[in-house]
Amino acid sequence: MARLKLQRFRASEPPDHVQARYIRVYKGRDLHYHPEALPPISAATLFGVSAPLVLDLGCGRGEFLVGQAQAQPDRYFAGFEWHIKSVWDAANRAHAAGLDNVRIVRADLRLALRVVPDGAADEVLMLFPPPKLARSERKDDLLSEPLLRHIHRILLPGGLFHFVTDHAAYFATKRALIEGGGLFAVQGESSAFEGGLTRFQRIWEAMSIASRRLECRRI
Ligand SMILES: C[S@@+](CC[C@H](N)C(=O)[O-])C[C@H]1O[C@@H](n2cnc3c(N)ncnc32)[C@H](O)[C@@H]1O
Repeated sequence: MARLKLQRFRASEPPDHVQARYIRVYKGRDLHYHPEALPPISAATLFGVSAPLVLDLGCGRGEFLVGQAQAQPDRYFAGFEWHIKSVWDAANRAHAAGLDNVRIVRADLRLALRVVPDGAADEVLMLFPPPKLARSERKDDLLSEPLLRHIHRILLPGGLFHFVTDHAAYFATKRALIEGGGLFAVQGESSAFEGGLTRFQRIWEAMSIASRRLECRRI
């Protein structure tokens, strides 16, 4: 299935009060030119508490994010996503579940991580990022060296970074980048069918494609 087609679906725009509660918009222009003028993305600004965040980078329609927030009510979750209909869907899902420990940041996550303070998170997830390996696509690759440095910076010491993909070559390339960088210690690696924990995982597993998972600890 073409990966782009998976972004085509119907979603209803949440009413204003739902958007106000769950969605935070960070425009690319502001992030690029005036990051210092923006509210930092932290548990303090998103939830009014002092606590570490769990960040889901590219949370899509938010099924996994909202499921995790429901299962772990004492933790605080922020999903980053730039596709508007996915953002709406995730916010509607969080509202339907009546959650107050999840927010959706609508932004280009490559820019938005600049305004996440050091040590703001104890867990970062990147689940099924688009695998961009061709030379012409590399500028759009999410899991770049600069992004890894941000993930390291925003994680607390000992914090966890989870990377999962269906794509063997992308996994090998990123594993080498992560291991070679000296910022993370790989503490687990697997290739398995995990029961479709995320929307994209369900799609690939239905096509008999296993997930490759890397679990890393911030050094
Ligand atoms: C393949 S989907 C995976 C969604 C979800 N994690 C899952 O496993 O079902 C990748 C998601 O990352 C989002 N995305 C890609 N590049 C992004 C960027 N630069 N900033 C924010 N979101 C991005 C896409 O819109 C898409 O929803």
